[in-house]
Amino acid sequence: MDKCGPMVLDALIKIKSEMDASLTFRRSCREGICGSCAMNIDGTNTLACTKACDEVKGEVKIYPLPHMPVIKDLIPDLTHFYAQYASVEPWLKTDTPAPTRERLQSEEDRAKLDGLYECILCACCSTSCPSYWWNGDRYLGPAVLMAAYRWLVDSRDEATGERLDQLEDPFKLYRCHTIMNCAKTCPKGLNPALAIAETKKMLVERRG
Ligand code: SF4
Ligand code: SF4
Ligand code: FES
Repeated sequence: MDKCGPMVLDALIKIKSEMDASLTFRRSCREGICGSCAMNIDGTNTLACTKACDEVKGEVKIYPLPHMPVIKDLIPDLTHFYAQYASVEPWLKTDTPAPTRERLQSEEDRAKLDGLYECILCACCSTSCPSYWWNGDRYLGPAVLMAAYRWLVDSRDEATGERLDQLEDPFKLYRCHTIMNCAKTCPKGLNPALAIAETKKMLVERRG
C-alpha cells in the first residue's frame, strides 16, 4: 500500500497492472462523476474511486453490485437497469412550439431540481433495495423512479399527466416500502426514497 494511491480503485488498478491482468472492473472518471466503478465494498454499495482503503477496517472485501447478473468479476449486467431508465423517457417533453431562445425557468423552479439532477446513475441505490432485488423485473427501483420524478417536477416539462399515468402501476412504483437503504447508500448523498414519496403524493393529489 506504500506504493498505491489511497482509494479502492487505485488498489484495483494496481492489482490489474501488476498482479492479475485478468481482473475486470469498470471505471472512467476516477472522481465520482461517471458512476462506472460502483461496487459493494465492505458490505456497502459505493464508488471504488471515492472510497479510501483506510476507511475499511481489516481486509477490504469487494463484490459486484448485489443481485445483478455478473458479466465478469466486478462488472454487473446493467442492460435491464438502463432499459428501465429509458422507459421513463428521461428528457424534456413539450407540445408548445419552441421559443426562439431557450425555455426559461424561474430560480425557484430550478431549485426544485436540486438533489435530483446530481444523480450519476451508478445503480448503488437500486441494487441495495430489497424490493428491487425481489421484483426488479417490474419494479423500477429508486434510481429510475428518482429520474422520473426529476422530470415530473421540471416546470418546463409538459407531459406531467402522461408521466404520472405511466407510473400509476402496482409494480412500477408501489413496491417501494420506504425501507430507506437507497438513501443510506447513495454515494452522492441523494434521497431517492423522498422522490418516490413525493411521486406517490402527486398521484394522490391528482385523484383529488
Ligand atoms: S425506500 Fe423504497 S426504493 Fe429505497 S430502498 Fe426502500 S423500498 Fe427501495
Ligand atoms: S440516486 Fe445515488 S445511488 Fe442512486 S443511482 Fe443516483 S447517484 Fe447512484
Ligand atoms: S470511476 Fe467514475 S465514479 Fe468512479
